[in-house]
Amino acid sequence: MKTIVAGNWKMHTDAGSADALINDVAAGTAAGAGDVLVIVAPPFPFLKAAVDRARTVDHGGKAPGILVAAQNCHEEEQGAFTGEVSVPMLKSLGVGACIVGHSERRQYYGETDEVVGRKVVQLLKHGLMPIYCCGERRDEREQGRHRDVVSRQLNTALGGLPAQDLSRVVVAYEPVWAIGTGVNASPEQAQEMHGFIRKELAGLAGKAALDVPILYGGSCKPDNAASLFGCPDINGGLIGGAALSAASFTELVRIAQRSKAVS
Ligand code: PGA
Repeated sequence: MKTIVAGNWKMHTDAGSADALINDVAAGTAAGAGDVLVIVAPPFPFLKAAVDRARTVDHGGKAPGILVAAQNCHEEEQGAFTGEVSVPMLKSLGVGACIVGHSERRQYYGETDEVVGRKVVQLLKHGLMPIYCCGERRDEREQGRHRDVVSRQLNTALGGLPAQDLSRVVVAYEPVWAIGTGVNASPEQAQEMHGFIRKELAGLAGKAALDVPILYGGSCKPDNAASLFGCPDINGGLIGGAALSAASFTELVRIAQRSKAVS
C-alpha cells in the first residue's frame, strides 16, 4: 500500500513564495522521503514552475519523488467554459494528480457528488491520479449521520467505476469540522471512518479496494500526525495549513515514513 503525504496550498502563495515553497519542499524531501509519495498542490498559475522544480529532484532512483497536483479541474474535455481548466491542459503541463470534491468546492461552488464523479472519470481517462475528498459536516456527525453521508458521497461519485479504475483512485477522508479549525478527528474517530470507507470501497470494487490509499485530512500537523498515521487504515494525509511551511510539511513526510515503517 502506498503511503502519501499531500499538501493542499489552497489560495495561498504568490509567484515568489510558491517558488520558494516548492524549492524548500524539494530540498527537504530529496533524501528522506523513503517510500512516501510526496504530493504538492499549488494554485493553477504556479503548477508549471512546481512541475519543473519537482523534475530536478534526485531521489536516488529509490523514492517515488514529488508529484504535482492541481486543486480542481473541469469535468468536460474542452469547450466554452470561461475561467475553467481542463484535465488535458493539466496533463500537458506534467501535472500528475488532482484533488476533487474538496469540501470548500462543495460548499462555496455547489459541486455535487455527480459532478465530482465526472471529474474523477476525466482524470482517470487521461491517466491522472484523482484524490477524491469526502467527509461529513459537524451537524451531520452530531445527528449520527456521518457514515450515511460518506457512504452516499463514495457510492454516487465512485460507484460507476470498474474495479480496476477504482484501484487508481486515492480517497481523502476530511471531516469538514476538522478542516482549518485546529481540532483534528481523534485517531479512534478517524480509524473508525477509514475502516468504514475501506468496507464501502470493497462493496464497490472487491479486492481492488485494498489498493486504495485513504488519506486523513483536517488539522493534521506534526504534533498529532504520528497517532493518526499509525492507524491501520490511514495511509497518509492531505494537509492544508501545515503544508504552507516547508519545515512542518517535510516533518509530516518523515512522520509518515516512520509510522508506516513500524506498522
Ligand atoms: P487543514 O486543511 O490541514 O488546514 O485543516 C486540510 C484540507 O483542507 O485539505
